[in-house]
Amino acid sequence: MATLEVHIEEPVTFVIFGATGDLTRRKLVPALYTLFKEGALASDFTIIGFARRDYEGTKFCNLIAESLHEHSRTPVDEDSLQAFCSHLTYHRGDLSDAAAYAELKKKLADSALPANRLFYLSIMPHLIEPVMDQLKTAELITPPGTGPWTRVVVEKPFGRDMKSAQALNETLLKYLDETQIYRIDHYLGKETVQNILSFRFANTIFEPVFNRTYVDHIQITASETVGMESGRGAYYDEYGALRDMVANHLFQLVALAAMEAPEGLSARSIRNEKVKLLQALKLAPSTPEHPSVCFGQYSGNTDTKAFRDEDRVDPSSTTETFAALRMEISNWRWADVPVYLRTGKRMAKKSTEIVIQFKTPPLSLFQHVACKGDVCDLTGVKPNTLIFRIQPDEGIFLQVSAKRPSMQLVVESVNMDFSYSGRWEKALPEAYERLLLDAMRGDSTLFTRSDEVEAEWNVIDTVLAAAADTKPLPYTPGAWGPAEANALLLNGAQWRNE
Ligand SMILES: NC(=O)c1ccc[n+]([C@@H]2O[C@H](COP(=O)([O-])OP(=O)(O)OC[C@H]3O[C@@H](n4cnc5c(N)ncnc54)[C@H](OP(=O)(O)O)[C@@H]3O)[C@@H](O)[C@H]2O)c1
Repeated sequence: MATLEVHIEEPVTFVIFGATGDLTRRKLVPALYTLFKEGALASDFTIIGFARRDYEGTKFCNLIAESLHEHSRTPVDEDSLQAFCSHLTYHRGDLSDAAAYAELKKKLADSALPANRLFYLSIMPHLIEPVMDQLKTAELITPPGTGPWTRVVVEKPFGRDMKSAQALNETLLKYLDETQIYRIDHYLGKETVQNILSFRFANTIFEPVFNRTYVDHIQITASETVGMESGRGAYYDEYGALRDMVANHLFQLVALAAMEAPEGLSARSIRNEKVKLLQALKLAPSTPEHPSVCFGQYSGNTDTKAFRDEDRVDPSSTTETFAALRMEISNWRWADVPVYLRTGKRMAKKSTEIVIQFKTPPLSLFQHVACKGDVCDLTGVKPNTLIFRIQPDEGIFLQVSAKRPSMQLVVESVNMDFSYSGRWEKALPEAYERLLLDAMRGDSTLFTRSDEVEAEWNVIDTVLAAAADTKPLPYTPGAWGPAEANALLLNGAQWRNE
């Protein structure tokens, strides 16, 4: 089997808080299993699963086996499974119960267990503070630079507005140094997202045209076809598309696509540039013809339920399942270049892509070519478009105009493609594999720093204020959101609905 070309030497004890939950079963355990099977983990790693339900003894291994059979991208064989299970133990207890931490401390004191500790908080946000308090009281957190390390991985959401994000940061920073905190935005673990920086800064030909002189607009779409199938209706009804997707994933994509070149590849340099970009990101002013915010909520049809009829969703919910924004970046490079963002559930296609739409050539030489029939449609030169396809069909596509073979001078838009599957046979690593590995080896480049999180919520607060009286517009399942989202676009721009 192909390896991940990496091996962690340092032994780690990995404690998963919320070990019986959906995220652990669907993402964390399969990622850890792949890392284990590919030889990326130190030989004496340990995983302790912490939750309330009774999975003690062999039951925990059975739960893990079930999760792996359902979700692992790496084939599961009995020998590897048993070997993997020999590294697992279950710790049954309530997260608010001090006695459970005293017991955990006893387990962790076992000299056979690696002294480096990675606490993975796969739990609801309201439990983070009590867990941190308990870990501190039980003296399970070692300060940085004093022998074996303690790191804490935190799952999104990192708040639901600026105030709560600041409160969460305060909670974490009360007992931890920023260097010990790993806030996961799993989009950053995707290969194609990391490639944005390589593409921009390992080549010379694109960077000179990444600016207001050449770029007409940027648009980022993260559309999903699913609704609330994953049983996350209650969570989603509380957070909605803006907080769930825009506040983190989409803003991170804007930051990577538009930030200045970092001085180096250290976590600090890259995050410094991202935060500068996020601080310059603003909601564009709204006009009656061109609003800058559009919210939608999917209705139902014969095949699918309306959002309001989904399990654990308020039947009179006004939560948006679609959000589109027109943003701007107030810096020298990007002034006056609209940045369009949209995301939603139950849309036409599952796709995440960043589109850099360049301006049309200054002279339209090809508009008056004699032609017949539908060939005429091809004579207008289309602007160049650079597309970073994050998922599916990961790759980078550049649309250019080329002469179509014919006796006439007819120009057609063609693609220059780079696709991962066409270039490399190896399956792309899952985002969680990369991120777990990075947290274990202490590389925080692909995690979000507290000032980035606050810069993101600062923008979201202005969107929430601007949209305070906005009710989401209905859209039919399988559409690209409400038609009203088209009004956000300026100067004849169109959403790329492909
Ligand atoms: N699921 C996803 O796809 C996803 C994606 C992105 C982010 N996240 C984030 O990841 C976190 C976990 O999400 P999830 O979907 O896995 O949630 P979940 O399925 O509800 O799991 C929650 C876990 O917490 C445990 N738990 C809850 N209260 C506890 C208590 N008082 N004491 C001990 N254990 C307790 C539960 O175990 P017991 O019931 O056995 O105690 C369960 O293992 C959340 O912050 C979520 O926002 C999830």
